[in-house]
Amino acid sequence: MRVLVGGGTGFVGRALTQLLRIRGHEVTHVSRQGGKDRISWEELSRSGLPPCDAVVNLAGENVLNPFRRWDDAFCREIISSRVETTKTLAKAIADADQPPRAWILITGVGYYRPSPTAEYTEDSPGGDFDFFSRLVSSWEAAALIPGSPARGVVVRSGVVLGRDGGAISRMLWPFWLGLGGPLGSGLQPFPWIHIRDLSGIVCYALESECLQGVFNGVSPSSPATSNGTFAQELGAALGRPALLPVPAWAVRAVFGAERAIMLLEGQRVVPKRTLESGYHFIFPDLSAALKDIVA
Ligand SMILES: NC(=O)c1ccc[n+]([C@@H]2O[C@H](COP(=O)([O-])OP(=O)(O)OC[C@H]3O[C@@H](n4cnc5c(N)ncnc54)[C@H](OP(=O)(O)O)[C@@H]3O)[C@@H](O)[C@H]2O)c1
Repeated sequence: MRVLVGGGTGFVGRALTQLLRIRGHEVTHVSRQGGKDRISWEELSRSGLPPCDAVVNLAGENVLNPFRRWDDAFCREIISSRVETTKTLAKAIADADQPPRAWILITGVGYYRPSPTAEYTEDSPGGDFDFFSRLVSSWEAAALIPGSPARGVVVRSGVVLGRDGGAISRMLWPFWLGLGGPLGSGLQPFPWIHIRDLSGIVCYALESECLQGVFNGVSPSSPATSNGTFAQELGAALGRPALLPVPAWAVRAVFGAERAIMLLEGQRVVPKRTLESGYHFIFPDLSAALKDIVA
C-alpha cells in the first residue's frame, strides 16, 4: 500500500512510518521540511494528491511546548497546524481522480469533558465545552469529505507513551533524579497508550478494509489509571522514588491555566470500538508498557 502521512516526521509519525515499512508499505511524508520521500504542503496544494492508497494526518504544533507562552498567537498556531493541514489533505482527496481507500486522522481524548468519575466511549457526547474539545471538533469536522469513497477513520488518542518523544521524554530526567511525582492531586484520570499500540491501531485500520468511524486510542486499563498511579509506576520502572508532587499552581505557572487543564484534569476513556474491531493491544497494562519504554 502507498501511504501519504502528513506530519509523519514527528514522534508518532516516526513509529508509524517504521511499522508501515516493516509491513511492506511505501510511505511518503507531507512536511514543512524538504528531504527524501517527502513532499511539501505547498506542493500538495499546487499539484494535488500524489498516487496513494491511504492518507494519514498527524501534523500539529506541540501543545505542551513549555517554551511557548499560552497566548492568542500560539492558540491560533495550535488550531491552524491541525485544522488547515487536515483541510488541505481532505481537499486533495476530494479532488483526486483516483481517491485513496482510507483517510485516517489522529485527534485527542480532549474531545471528552474531564471528570474524575464519568467514563467515555466513542459514542459519548463531547466536543463543545472548552478550547481542547472545540479544537478536536473542528479538526474532525475538517476531515469530513461528503460522498467520498475513502473510508474515514478518526483515532482519539490519549497521552502517547514512548521512549523517543512525547510526555515521557520530558519526565525521565526529573524521575531519574528522584524528583518525580504526581501532578496536582494525582487523583485525575490519566488516559494513556503505548506508542506501538497507537501506530498499531492506525496500521490495523489501514489494513482492515471495513473499519471506519471513531476509535478511542487508549489502553484498556487506561480508565483505571490515575496520574498518581502513573507516577508511581514510572518511578517503579526506573527504580526511583516518585513521591514529590508537583503543585497545581506550579503547573499553571509554567503552562498557563487553560493549558494546565490537560495535565491537572483528565478523562476516563474506554477503547470500546477499538476492542470490538478486533485490535489486540500489545501493551494493555501500564507496568509492562513502562518497563518496555525505560528498559
Ligand atoms: N503525543 C501525544 O501524546 C499525543 C496525544 C494525543 C494526540 N496527539 C496528536 O497526534 C499527532 C501526532 O503527535 P506527535 O506527538 O507525533 O506530534 P509532534 O511530534 O509534536 O509533531 C508532529 C509533526 O507535526 C508537524 N508540525 C508541527 N508543528 C507544525 C505546524 N505549526 N504546522 C504544520 N505542521 C506542523 C511536524 O512535521 P514537519 O516538521 O515534518 O512539518 C511534526 O513532526 C498530533 O496531531 C497530536 O496532536 C498526540
